[in-house]
Amino acid sequence: MNKKYALITGASSGIGEEIARNLASKGFNLVVTARRLERLNNLSKDICSQYDVDVRVISADLSEESAVNEIYEFCNKNGLHIDLIVNNAGYGIPTQFHETSMIEEEKFLRVLGTSVIGLTKAFIPEMIKNKSGKIMIISSVASFAPPSVIQSLYGPVKTFMNRFGDTLNALYKRDGISSTVVCPGYTVTEFHSASGVQEQMDKVPEFLKLNVKKVAEEAVQATLKGKTLCIPSKRYKVLVFLLKVIPWKVFQLIDITGGRYEKN
Ligand SMILES: NC(=O)c1ccc[n+]([C@@H]2O[C@H](COP(=O)([O-])OP(=O)(O)OC[C@H]3O[C@@H](n4cnc5c(N)ncnc54)[C@H](OP(=O)(O)O)[C@@H]3O)[C@@H](O)[C@H]2O)c1
Repeated sequence: MNKKYALITGASSGIGEEIARNLASKGFNLVVTARRLERLNNLSKDICSQYDVDVRVISADLSEESAVNEIYEFCNKNGLHIDLIVNNAGYGIPTQFHETSMIEEEKFLRVLGTSVIGLTKAFIPEMIKNKSGKIMIISSVASFAPPSVIQSLYGPVKTFMNRFGDTLNALYKRDGISSTVVCPGYTVTEFHSASGVQEQMDKVPEFLKLNVKKVAEEAVQATLKGKTLCIPSKRYKVLVFLLKVIPWKVFQLIDITGGRYEKN
């Protein structure tokens, strides 16, 4: 059996789960991680019943400082060679900046930011040695959008991740490593209920809601081709283009989510 593995964070639901299923269908062995162990075990059983791949499960809370090391040691101890990292775990905080404690913000930044850097730092030396590796970072269209009234650090950390992906490409392309930043728009997953913003999601027009399987397929294809940026669907490619060329104030006037964006 092929000894190369894809490590997927946030594989217990949504985009991460669909990426896991998609990669397994293409023959990748998997290491899947998230906090909900039962979900991961069910996913593993389901994938193994359909495809001839090996799936390893490790439960970890990425808001804990020790999580990156636990995941790395698990792979190391079991001799699992990680050739593809999917940095996908994420959520949003539904309150305004001044209502959120620093501890909450630090945990948030660890899940969406520091752990991405930590996992990349842990696994990249072996990728450099093997002259082969792929790093997928699930960012968001929010990384290009105007500031939001709630989820104040969500857009900024996703923008940071876009720049981090660019940096990885600039530094390691010559070592056979590519980084792909995936920026989905509104995608139907558990994200909005888990993040306390389901009401805002319900106000989003249907044509702007993406199917999670299609997002996963575009994300995987772009990553395997070594593309630097992937914006799933034509609709959102156009929207991101407009966000880059039209002043934010114009978007703030036509706020489609009923007051999500700060008006200034
Ligand atoms: N849905 C959208 O509209 C949308 C749009 C753009 C970008 N994104 C991004 O896509 C990524 C995946 O989100 P999704 O839409 O698939 O949402 P989801 O269905 O809620 O999945 C989020 C995943 O992250 C994991 N996670 C959350 N907190 C964690 C923690 N502390 N430690 C470890 N794992 C944690 C969850 O697993 P456990 O709860 O089991 O730990 C779950 O597997 C996120 O980075 C999100 O920012 C989503």
